[in-house]
Amino acid sequence: MIEIVDLHKKFGTNAVLRGVNLKVAKGETFALIGASGKGKSVLIKHMIGLMKPDQGQVKIDGQDIGRLHGKKLVQLKNRIGIVFQFGALFDSLSVFDNVAFPLQEKTRLGAKQINDKVLAALDNVGLKGEEEKFPAQISGGMRKRVAVARCLVMDPEIILFDEPTTGLDPVIANSIYSTIQKLQRERNLTSFIISHEIPGIFKIVDRAAMLHDGRIIQVGTSDEIQNSTVPIVQKFLKGEIE
Ligand SMILES: Nc1ncnc2c1ncn2[C@@H]1O[C@H](COP(=O)(O)OP(=O)(O)OP(=O)(O)O)[C@@H](O)[C@H]1O
Ligand SMILES: [Mg+2]
Repeated sequence: MIEIVDLHKKFGTNAVLRGVNLKVAKGETFALIGASGKGKSVLIKHMIGLMKPDQGQVKIDGQDIGRLHGKKLVQLKNRIGIVFQFGALFDSLSVFDNVAFPLQEKTRLGAKQINDKVLAALDNVGLKGEEEKFPAQISGGMRKRVAVARCLVMDPEIILFDEPTTGLDPVIANSIYSTIQKLQRERNLTSFIISHEIPGIFKIVDRAAMLHDGRIIQVGTSDEIQNSTVPIVQKFLKGEIE
């Protein structure tokens, strides 16, 4: 479903991605780990076409997203949901309207259907009753959950999550992961999750990879990564490099 081939990206002299190769299968729940500032967010931005590679490609369901334009790009992007690391909401819209926004913009659903979907999505992330508040009136963790609801309300086939549960208490974090797992079972959702939650994230994902020095230094099942014999991976898991 996601295939990254020899991806290179630099900013000035800062070569952030130096030949990333990675494949994620349809229906897989996958984690990307790695130290801060190593290019995880840059990588995820290439996966939705927000950044263009200097070299290499990102293929989503066989299509090179960096080379699509117009209607084809819109169609592909509509199949992908993304929750950014600093989950951007519209400050002038209520919680309800933030979640309703993509449905109003990108679908032909009527007001009643939109209303039902928004309320169900907010209920899913534990925000029932908060519909009329504005982003400035809710906590950081609640804003993050609104961003998750806004992503899930579009029923994406693929979700890209940049640290979805950072700043959330464990109960809410678990409820977001249960929602992802439920969607995986019901609709074969493919999820790509950037996470610093170690070792917690390994309980949720099928496989994981570590990004280091611009490349994927190891990819494997959660068990394989946790029992890695690669020195840098071992050190990272023990919190000895950051
Ligand atoms: N638009 C940009 N212009 C210039 N440099 C950038 C840009 N975006 C990212 N970078 C640089 O790319 C590097 C990787 O940044 P990135 O945000 O991907 O790190 P990260 O692995 O997501 O870190 P964290 O775990 O802290 O979120 C950093 O050195 C950053 O300064
Ligand atoms: Mg980041």
